[in-house]
Parts: sequence; structure tokens; C-alpha cells
Amino acid sequence: MADLAISRRAALMGAGAAAAWLASPARALLQATGKLDVPAFVDQLIGRMTLEEKAGQLQLMAAAWGGGAALTLNPPGNASNFEGQVEEARQGLLTGVFNGNGARMARIMQTAAVRQSRLNIPLIFAADIIHGHRTIFPVPLAEVASFEPDLARRTAEAAAFEASGAGIDWTFSPMADVARDQRWGRGVEGGGEDPLLGRLFAAARVRGFQGADLRSTEHMLACIKHFAAYGAAESGLDYNVVDMSEERLREVYLPPYKAGFDAGALSAMASFNEINGVPATANRWLMTDLLRGEWGFKGFVVSDYTGDEEMIAAGYAKDGRDAAKLAFLAGVDMSMQSGLYRQHLPGLVRSGEVPQAQLDQSVRRVLALKAMLGLFDDPFRRIDEKREAARSMLPKTRALAREAGRKSIVMLKNEGDLLPLPRSGKRIALIGPFASGAHDLVGPWVVYGDDRKAVDLATGVRAAVAQPHSVIVVQGSGVDQPLPGGIEQAVAAARAADIVLLAIGESFDMSGEAQSRTEIAVPAAQQQLAEAVAAVGKPVVVILKHGRALALEGAVADAQAILATWFLGTETGNAIADVLFGSYGPSARLPASFPWKSGQEPYYYAHKATGRPNPPGELQPYKAHFRGIPNSACYPFGHGLTYGKIDYSGLALSSPTMPMNGAIQMSATLTNRGKRSAEEVAQLYIHDRVASVTRPVRELKAFRKIALAPGASQIVRFTLTPADLAFYGRQGRPVIEPGTFDLWIAPSAEAEGVHGTFELVA
Ligand code: BGC
Repeated sequence: MADLAISRRAALMGAGAAAAWLASPARALLQATGKLDVPAFVDQLIGRMTLEEKAGQLQLMAAAWGGGAALTLNPPGNASNFEGQVEEARQGLLTGVFNGNGARMARIMQTAAVRQSRLNIPLIFAADIIHGHRTIFPVPLAEVASFEPDLARRTAEAAAFEASGAGIDWTFSPMADVARDQRWGRGVEGGGEDPLLGRLFAAARVRGFQGADLRSTEHMLACIKHFAAYGAAESGLDYNVVDMSEERLREVYLPPYKAGFDAGALSAMASFNEINGVPATANRWLMTDLLRGEWGFKGFVVSDYTGDEEMIAAGYAKDGRDAAKLAFLAGVDMSMQSGLYRQHLPGLVRSGEVPQAQLDQSVRRVLALKAMLGLFDDPFRRIDEKREAARSMLPKTRALAREAGRKSIVMLKNEGDLLPLPRSGKRIALIGPFASGAHDLVGPWVVYGDDRKAVDLATGVRAAVAQPHSVIVVQGSGVDQPLPGGIEQAVAAARAADIVLLAIGESFDMSGEAQSRTEIAVPAAQQQLAEAVAAVGKPVVVILKHGRALALEGAVADAQAILATWFLGTETGNAIADVLFGSYGPSARLPASFPWKSGQEPYYYAHKATGRPNPPGELQPYKAHFRGIPNSACYPFGHGLTYGKIDYSGLALSSPTMPMNGAIQMSATLTNRGKRSAEEVAQLYIHDRVASVTRPVRELKAFRKIALAPGASQIVRFTLTPADLAFYGRQGRPVIEPGTFDLWIAPSAEAEGVHGTFELVA
């Protein structure tokens, strides 16, 4: 860990600041905690292994059984047939497989590895358990909207319970990539645009997946991916290059990965992208100097799917041999899917290009993790067909999916208190491609979930109303294409109804890997449907399905009420109905800003002011904004309405100054002036007015979710210390500089809430 750099101004602040930083939680976050236990037998085993067997322990492949889920989720790879793969296990040429087909497949393969191979080393079974196994929870981005990290811990734990029952030891999750460009399709798998939320949710998910002991047959090894800065792909194009300053990398993009490692994750996945000209997969600074040297990471690093081989097309490696050598020497211990390590590492060691000691060290890490997972004690500990069935989709797990679903729904707009709807006395027209049917429910990045076992919106709404037959359901449009006669049917349904629920947005395959979009809008066919339905003149509630923040237009933007419902998984329809009819008051907040227009991307709340910020109010010439569009969000990060009316007042600071070795407390009074109870997420933002590196217009520092009955008031309190004001100065070192800071306790990143200032004094 780099020492605290004392900047020119900070030098004035003396030892107090350094002491504050050293004692701070922020500093603690920068210290590695994950421990690798290497039992003595591991080194004895390594002593008996051939070079080929060692390389085999560093080669992970997509499961080939019956085509394997990986082969449909990923591009066609080098998968062999299943019999061939079992034979590889017998020969000790495979460390494990991923995205396979449950306990039965795992038993066949594990038997070959531990009963028929020379050294009986167990295989490890991995899978993309991203937001559930059989029971599917909201997509990760949606869960972040709950602003409740413990919810993500609980759903990760429930996913691990189901998946570890099905023979899976290791999940390729959580994704800790900060995503600030909504064109990028994989933001759906991550923690949103903000590093604080990213840190809290990455850590929570690691704790949920791994539990307290990796040997537990109800938990699994977590993998922090995609290391690093995969979410910063230029122009939001998946796999594209990343070129950024070390300050930004360290301040915005790295902290969520670091938080995941600090929470105990002992595996990491290299990202596909290059960083400043060097692919992450061959980036020694990243994989070795930073990850192991500075952060003290003790686990193993796996490449992403054929990520090593892809360095040839990227123009970094000459051929497969070169790619294997570059990746391995950089610090990537295990290769996924290309087969290059198995093919080339033995020869590279024989020729002296790769030190034998480094090969042994990577094998040691992998075997130690297998031991920590309990696989040497009982290679079949997670492989149990009966348990797999017995744990699948239990009522308590579905109940958690429903809870997570409703806590993930963000109410963007609710004019005239249209919501919640009465359960009787109103005829409802439920219109749109996502109104009904077993499709697009579980969302992207699902290997084992099933839309047919999920509750669609029509079912959820009908179950919630007194007269189910009064709900007319009309598709109206396809996702991308109009339906013959669809608009006419939809208009007729709207005419016959008192209220329209318009279920529109993105299909599940419009986000996720390789699904970058140039226009982050509702597709044209559905926009036309929305215009026609709105023209009928009935109140419209838009229920958005989406894997990213969207730019809303026309009748969609103008609807009286708008719910951002993402992909909520198995309990989709019930969760949305809970919010629509008020059995649950919406409490979620946007983890990613909804811009006015697609062309604003990348738009994020924590942007810099520039030298020409537009003053509040009218757009002015020669100021930083697009033509006709303010440099702000339509619905900013942190925004989300409740069924209450929350008023922020009475900002109080314990002192107008914060000493370098001290802290200040701040509080505000939140009052619910509405007629319904509410859960409000109060957010603390700061802004450093003058610094040696320009600072964002706002930065989230803390938040609290509080329940307020109608008429009730509560004081929310926060504490800030100088460490919370640290930022990465030049040379990637944290600095704390005295000066004036703004602070807001507010309902979103662009709302005023209550505002004050304080001085950090040397
Ligand atoms: C993705 C990873 C995933 C892997 C295995 C890759 O294409 O980038 O996130 O874990 O495939 O399915």
C-alpha cells in the first residue's frame, strides 16, 4: 500500500491528518484480509506432479455435457465432447468445468478425477450464479436500487444454498465493475455508477456467497470480476479499450473490487479490456504489483473466457504460446476455455521462459483453494442429486425473491398520487409486450433459471385485484416490431378501461454481455404503442422493463406514473403488484442516472463542474451543456419516490469546522407530510470546493433508509471524518486537503435537500 502523500497544502496539516487517515475505515478498506491456508499435503502433491498435470490444474473449461449451458451463453469455444472431457479429467488435464448441468454431471466427472486419475485431485465446478440459481432474484443492478446491501448478502446466500446443493463450488460473481455509460450492456450485472454503492454491494455479495467457512456445503467461492475497469469501455462498446488516469482508476473503478477482496473473496477474474494499451490479462502491474503486492491478495486469478487467446486479435500476443506466456507471467494463474495453458505451459517451463517456481505457486493457490472448499476431504460434498432437488425453489427462497423484487422497484414519477391503485372499482387495461407470458422475466445472465417458473405481470396483477376478470391484457406490440392490429387492440382496451398499465421496455437480451446500445430508449415500435395508448386520455402507469438506465421520451416520459422495474426474476409479477396496489410502498433509489437523451452518455452524477458550468436555471450560451439539454439527469442517481411526502429541514452541524484529527456530526429532520407511511433513503453528499485535483460536483458519502409513518419526523445523523474527504492525488496516493466543503442531506444526487458548508482546518 502506497504511503499517504502529503500534498503541498496538506503538508500544512501535520501529523494529525496522517493519524486520522491511518485510523480511518477508508484506510482499513485498503488493507487485504483474505487468507489462503495451504495445507502441508499440497506441497507434497505438487512434488509428485508432472508439468502436464500442473498445467492441467490451471486449465478450466466450459462443461461439454449435452452442449452445456456455457456453450449457449458464451461464444462457441473449444469445448470437446463430454466423453472427451471426462477422459481429460482422468488424465489430470483439467482443473474443473463451468456452467455444467447439475449434480449428476458433476458426479460422473468427479468420479473420473478422484477415482480414475493418477493423483486423484478433485475437480472444481464453477458457474455464473449471478442473480440466483433456480430461484432467480432481481438482476444485480436492480438490487443495488434497494440501497440495502444486506438484501444482496441474503439473496447471494440463498443463491449459494441452491447452487451448492447442485454441485457448484465456485461462482463467477460478484461483478464489481463500476458502469457510468448506460450504452454498455453489462451494467445490469453490477453495482451501478457510484463507487460507494459498488463497494458495499460487492462486499455484501461476497459475504453472502462465501459465508463464514468455504467448507460449508451451503456456500461457495466468490470471484471478483472483471478485473479491472471493464465497465469503463470506451463509448460503452463491450470489450472496447479503457484509457484512463491512474487517479480515476484508483478512485472510482478499483474500490469495489478491493472491497470484494477485503470481504474475503479468494478468486478474481481478469477483464477482457486493455488498460492504457496493455490487456488486463497480460497486465503485470494490475495482476501482480497492485493486486498481490499492494493489496495483498492471496487467492488465484482466472482469465475470462478465452481472454488470453484474444490478446492475439488485440495485437498484443504473437500466437497462442506467446499469449499463454504473457498472461501467466503477468499473474493470471488459470486460463478459462482457450486451452492455451494446458497446451503451452509445460513447454514454456521446459524452455526456461516461465519459471518452474511460478508454475508451482499458481498450482499451490488452486490446490489450496480446493482444500479450503473441502474438496480433498470429500470431493462429493456438494454433489448430491437429492439435495439438489430438495433445495430448489423453496417457498422461503421465493418469498425472498419477492421481497428483493419489491425493494428493487424505483418509482420515478407519480403525478396526482395515481399510485397506489385501488384493488377494486377500476377497470384495468394491462398493455405491452411485457404484460403477460413466460418470457423476459428472469432477465439476462441466468444459466439455470426458467421463465416458465416465474410469475408474469398479468398473473401478479390479477392476484392482487378483487375482480381478476376486470383486467384486460393486450400485447399491443412486439419488443422491436409492431404487431398486426396490435395498436388498434390496445387502444380499444384503453378506451374500455379506467387505468392503463403499460408494460414496455427492453427484452432480456438487450442487456448483458455484448449488448451495447447506441440509443438507450424504449424501442420505436413500443414508443408508437405508448403514443397511441396515451392519446386515449386515460391515466397511464408505465412499468419499465430494462437492464440499464433509459432515456425516456414522448408519451412514456409524460405518463402520470413511471416505475423502473428492471428484471426482477422469479417473483416479477407479484413484486410489481405489491407496489402497484400499495401492499408495499416503493423505497428504492436509482443506482444509475436516467439521462434526458442517449447522447448525454456517459452521464453520471459525480461529474466535474468544468470551467463553464451552467448556473441554475435557463441554459446559457457558451456553457457546458448539449444543445437544448441541461448537463443534468432527467432522473438522477439516488432518485426514487415513496407513497409519503418527505420533507427535509433543519440541517445542524456539530461545528462549522472539522479538525484534521477530529470529526463532525451532521443531522437533518425528515418529516413525512403525506398520508401514507414511507421508507426514505436519506443521502449524504459532499463537494470539495477547491483541491489540487478537481473534485466531482457531488460525492455520496453515506446513506440511511428510515421508516416514517404519516406525520412522523425523525432526525437522521451522519458523521464525517477527514478520511472521508481523502482523494487520490497525483501518483495515486490518498491526500487530505484543508478547505471548504459543501454538504447536502438530500433525497437524490441532484436534489437540494438541506445544504450547508464546513471547513476542514489544518
Ligand atoms: C463473461 C464472464 C463469465 C464467463 C463464463 C464471459 O464471457 O465475460 O463474466 O463469467 O464468460 O461464462
